[in-house]
Amino acid sequence: MCTASPSTTPNAGLRENTRSLPRISETAPDFKAVTTHGELQFSEWKGNSWTILFSHPADFTPVCSTELTELAKRSKEFETKNCKLIGVSIDSIHSHLAWVDNLTKILDAPRLPYPLIADSDRKVAELYGMIHPHESATVTVRALFYIDPKNTIRAIIYYPLNVGRSVDEILRVLDALQTADTNGVACPVNWKKGDKVIVPPPKSYKDVEARAALQNVERLDFYLIKKSL
Ligand code: BEZ
Repeated sequence: MCTASPSTTPNAGLRENTRSLPRISETAPDFKAVTTHGELQFSEWKGNSWTILFSHPADFTPVCSTELTELAKRSKEFETKNCKLIGVSIDSIHSHLAWVDNLTKILDAPRLPYPLIADSDRKVAELYGMIHPHESATVTVRALFYIDPKNTIRAIIYYPLNVGRSVDEILRVLDALQTADTNGVACPVNWKKGDKVIVPPPKSYKDVEARAALQNVERLDFYLIKKSL
């Protein structure tokens, strides 16, 4: 039998105090929160939209300021894809309100059109595994959860404190998830909207035969077939 003791498992102590993150295909945990748009119950606020729940480390910090402002400037693109945005950090509501006001002045940005959760008691951060103690024991990392209309977590992106996320990539993944759902297909490397998609690989000889009969496809082999939508 093999057992790990804290002395032989360097990260064990820190992990014990940190809930594990919900994983892909699990139901998104629900919560009640104080936000810049008032108090809300996450599941009720979300309804049956796609939602991106993302954390930032702290208010009044430079990289976070650029990320949240860019998301505000491009919020219409998420709206047209039926996707709501909601941010979270462990700062207080007073800090959020002051920072959002400041961002409109220094970065020529619209007032953030999406809510920011004031997670001072770290309830949401712990529920979603957003604190990675070896990166920082006191603030959330840059986590981002894609939650579909049925409240299922569909993709997760994690970045460290010192690397800002790409809004183009956040939108690309949303497009890929929605395209895959609508058309029963998969999206290949570097895919972007309008590119060819992948016909899901066969799981039986019957599937192989069905794929052999497909017309107007790019057939590289029996298991790698691309098509235009
Ligand atoms: C930033 O957003 O710039 C930042 C936040 C926390 C730690 C380091 C950088």
